[in-house]
Amino acid sequence: MHRSHAHADMTDPIYGYLAPQGFLPQLTEEIGSDAMETLGRLILAPARPVAWAANRWEAPIRIQIASIGDGAKKLRDIQRNWVLTPHLHHRRAALIEEKLPKVSAKPIVFGSPAPTAPLGSWMLIAPDTILASPRCSSPFPNGEVRFVEDKTAPPNRAYLKLWEFFTVTGEKPGAGQTCLDLGSSPGGWSWVLQGLGAKVISVDKAPLDPRVASLAGIEFRQASAFALEPAMVGPVDWLFSDVVCYPERLLTLVEKWRASGLARRFVCTLKFQTPTDFATMRRFAAIPGSRLMHLHNNKHELTWALP
Ligand SMILES: C[S@@+](CC[C@H](N)C(=O)[O-])C[C@H]1O[C@@H](n2cnc3c(N)ncnc32)[C@H](O)[C@@H]1O
Repeated sequence: MHRSHAHADMTDPIYGYLAPQGFLPQLTEEIGSDAMETLGRLILAPARPVAWAANRWEAPIRIQIASIGDGAKKLRDIQRNWVLTPHLHHRRAALIEEKLPKVSAKPIVFGSPAPTAPLGSWMLIAPDTILASPRCSSPFPNGEVRFVEDKTAPPNRAYLKLWEFFTVTGEKPGAGQTCLDLGSSPGGWSWVLQGLGAKVISVDKAPLDPRVASLAGIEFRQASAFALEPAMVGPVDWLFSDVVCYPERLLTLVEKWRASGLARRFVCTLKFQTPTDFATMRRFAAIPGSRLMHLHNNKHELTWALP
């Protein structure tokens, strides 16, 4: 799909924004008239903040290829590590992929750092044309962060969102820091934070799983997150929220805590109904110094963080 492009100068660098699986409509709406071309899940557009992207191709280039072997050679001549982003000509792309060095897609153990080796992305956009980006924002294949899961200790799979956030940002609470975990039941996030050695104030209207509730360092308060006044809690190093609520209501809660000056950092899940609330999403994105991102382990959600 080609569209006329009103804003970009011909010399502006062009990036490729890869929609998370199932969220191309959100990415399309977010990029709007900045989009220059859509290739499967990839939208080419100038530099701009984007939340609904699993990966950003930093410098996409078109490469003409004479054959399968020639395609693989031209990619290998640039660098070792490439991951295919499926788009068109699947069979031919698979044959090129077979001729490239294997890139490990093994799940990682939480606590190990994100890979540092450059990982490029490529796709076939015509039988004789590769679109490739040697550099991408994510060191994980197509931005998909997979972990060796713990199938016994945490009470649900929500813990994967925090594991991913801490891994991709490289930041996490230190031992002895105070974490307020809003909407904490059944306790996956509180379990992660407790495991890092943090002191956890865990708040939900529903009870915690007893196995989490009994862990040392977790204080549970059965209450509504919205009824909790910052002064009743006191200063916290991190405020986490995974409360199921309209993003607008979460924004009010965040603004209350920011005004109090009692929370140093925030990590909150914006949970969307259908249709996606882009207006509130933009208000979160506009909070100075904050980041809005779609984690691989997010559903119809975004993670908003204020360092
Ligand atoms: C997705 S779950 C949270 C999962 C949790 N982060 C974990 O890791 O186990 C959403 C939670 O929001 C809670 N919730 C909904 N409204 C709330 C409110 N007003 N105050 C506190 N918690 C609320 C629900 O009870 C539910 O437990």
